[in-house]
Amino acid sequence: MNFVERFQQLDAWLAEHQALWQAKPFTQRQCAWENQWPELAAWLRSRTLEQAERAHNQPHLLHPPEPFAQLAQTATALTQVPDWTSSPTADFPELLQRHIPGRKWQQITRFAQVSQARLRQPVRHWVDWCAGKGHLGRLLAWQTGNPLLCLEQIARLNRDGEMLSQQFQLTATHQDADVLAPETWPLLTTEHSLVALHACGQLHMTLLQQAVANGCSQLALAPCCYNRVEGQTYAAMSAMAGKAQLKLSKDDLALPMQESVTAGQRTRRLRDRSMAWRLAFDLWQRETRNHDVYLPTPSRPESAMTNGIAVFCRELAGHHGLDLLEPASWADLEKRGWQRLAEVRNLELLRGLFRRPLEMWLLLDRALFMQEAGYQVEIGLFCPSELTPRNFLLIAEKRSALLITSL
Ligand SMILES: C[S@@+](CC[C@H](N)C(=O)[O-])C[C@H]1O[C@@H](n2cnc3c(N)ncnc32)[C@H](O)[C@@H]1O
Repeated sequence: MNFVERFQQLDAWLAEHQALWQAKPFTQRQCAWENQWPELAAWLRSRTLEQAERAHNQPHLLHPPEPFAQLAQTATALTQVPDWTSSPTADFPELLQRHIPGRKWQQITRFAQVSQARLRQPVRHWVDWCAGKGHLGRLLAWQTGNPLLCLEQIARLNRDGEMLSQQFQLTATHQDADVLAPETWPLLTTEHSLVALHACGQLHMTLLQQAVANGCSQLALAPCCYNRVEGQTYAAMSAMAGKAQLKLSKDDLALPMQESVTAGQRTRRLRDRSMAWRLAFDLWQRETRNHDVYLPTPSRPESAMTNGIAVFCRELAGHHGLDLLEPASWADLEKRGWQRLAEVRNLELLRGLFRRPLEMWLLLDRALFMQEAGYQVEIGLFCPSELTPRNFLLIAEKRSALLITSL
């Protein structure tokens, strides 16, 4: 894949359709794009909440009026990367996976298998960046016999990790370290092969910057939480993205993260009710104030819903210092809230088409940054999206070190 070309295509396409993916049906009763595409809007608005739920993770499989299919097709084409996924071929001691939730363990084993297959220089020392208990690093160290350094901020996780590594008699250091603190960075050396599974925004951006600054020979990174960064606007990493048309806000950065495979049924039901009640509040406040403007609704604990919709809405009104005329029927208002939730979720499917392309734009910024710094870079999928929607893997190897290896 030519990263520069793909980045430019994505940048132009995302900038052209910015009005479609930045519109937020939850806060706007009518999105501006609905005037331009009335048939599509009417089709989406006519569907149920269950239909929206089923389509959420695969909006490209729907058949609504145009331009939906056309956009879905481009989104799919622009986000194609090699599929490196394969089931783990090795057997592992039970102790290595004890206490690790099934899905997490499957991510770890696939990450370990793919990165060992793709990293071409011989490993000398693993570093697990934001390691938690170091499960990924320990598996790699156990498989390859190399020493391991785990960098993790929470001391308790490090002590647990130490005990686990000792049980395998590994040469492992689990260091209490804040990876964002400059005093941590000199720990990295040219000897290191870095791995990071689901390190959040600023944490994995710092990993890339410090890998370059300290001349680390190679790394494998599966990024996540692109929106957890310092500042309210996105600071591009590569020179190429610095010149891009897209200028992203923190809010924009949250879009790729709005895909979930993890929420259980109970959590989803509670989340839906809370959303429907907020939308009911929104209708109530707009209509009684005769002012068609969204008022933010702060997140509320689960207990806020135990006393029914009337108390829930009155508390939100109180939060905004409003004394609103009560509706004739709270039950009717609640019904309308649920109806609006169905419409919102279906309209959001259009936004959903841009989730993966925006993630790809961000991933390519990281890939280009590493290329510009003299690394050979590949990107691909390390596991199926059912295991985690954050399934992109970036492999980077210092070109000068690769040359020495091939001599
Ligand atoms: C999403 S978890 C990933 C853990 C592990 N890589 C995994 O996949 O199971 C992120 C980890 O980063 C750690 N972390 C967060 N901020 C950190 C910082 N500034 N320095 C070091 N570790 C940090 C957290 O304590 C947590 O263990």
